[in-house]
Amino acid sequence: MTRMSGNHRSIPRQDVFDFLIRRADRKAGIVYTEAIVTDYESAQGYPGQARITNREQIEAWRGVVERMKQAGAVTIMQIFHCGRIAWKEVNPAGRTIAPSAVIPNQKNPITGAPYPLPEEMSEYEIEHVITGFRETARGAIDAGFDGVEIHGAHGYLISQFLSHYSNRRSDRYGGSLENRFRFTHELIQSVREVVPHDRILSFRLSNWGVVDMDVSLFTDSHEWLKLIAMLSEQPLDALSISTYDFQQSAFETDLTMSQLTRRATALPLFICGKIHDRQTAELALQHADVALFAKSMLLNPGLVEDLRSNKELPCYSSEEANVAYTDEILP
Ligand SMILES: Cc1cc2nc3c(=O)[nH]c(=O)nc-3n(C[C@H](O)[C@H](O)[C@H](O)COP(=O)(O)O)c2cc1C
Repeated sequence: MTRMSGNHRSIPRQDVFDFLIRRADRKAGIVYTEAIVTDYESAQGYPGQARITNREQIEAWRGVVERMKQAGAVTIMQIFHCGRIAWKEVNPAGRTIAPSAVIPNQKNPITGAPYPLPEEMSEYEIEHVITGFRETARGAIDAGFDGVEIHGAHGYLISQFLSHYSNRRSDRYGGSLENRFRFTHELIQSVREVVPHDRILSFRLSNWGVVDMDVSLFTDSHEWLKLIAMLSEQPLDALSISTYDFQQSAFETDLTMSQLTRRATALPLFICGKIHDRQTAELALQHADVALFAKSMLLNPGLVEDLRSNKELPCYSSEEANVAYTDEILP
């Protein structure tokens, strides 16, 4: 869960580290970090995001990871690049790059201003961005994380390459799904080389983005299933599917995203979206291997105990989760 607490050296605030350790101490099975940005040039989309490519940043995370592992949690660092929804002003090199020069319809919710016209990425930049993912994954592994998650969801850069909506290229990185998948393929192959096989490499995917939320990023269930099958041929250990509501039907089908995705993959399947109490978790686990809690885990430090005792629990709204950007309610 992105916290925007990082200092000018791209290291999160201590209370954010404490918040992660506390979730592990109170028996969260897996603790994910917030999305970590993969370069100093064009990856960053929100103020105060963290990086993990230099010694100081790696050392800052090392103690946190050790503490979480001692408490028994599996630790995963999520890594991403924002592409066309990067925020120029917070990127040291002040650039916005994307597969194609296409601006989101929606304005930047933080600044209220239109997003800048992104520069279409050259092949050099594609390679450079992949190197950023690889170096960041190396940093995560060096810091001791059990795994790395490549954030290919929510309309950020990887998702922009995958979706016909934001990828209008006519070279070998655009057009057919196979071509749109090429960037993801090259990126996963490169990252896997630095993530040893005794660590986890997962990939997160969604059919929606954080801007222009009403747009379906993929055309129909056939395109989705083809993409899932392509991902399943990659050297990945898990697929994490992000939905608004795990019970909603996917595309034109009467299947949920978990049920549909399961048809095309044997990989362990993680699912999230309005899973907030024991009943919804048990329902979600009928068709997925891991149930993920986002807002509930953020806002309720005692979530695991509450689930064990089958307590009645709220389904939090995004507005409620926004307040947690301050350090005031991170108990
Ligand atoms: C404040 C906030 C920060 C988030 N940060 C991230 C993030 O860094 N990476 C990510 O993959 N998803 C992020 N998400 C999305 C959640 O992981 C999840 O997909 C979404 O909240 C739905 O799950 P839920 O119903 O359990 O909250 C964030 C959501 C919120 C509200």
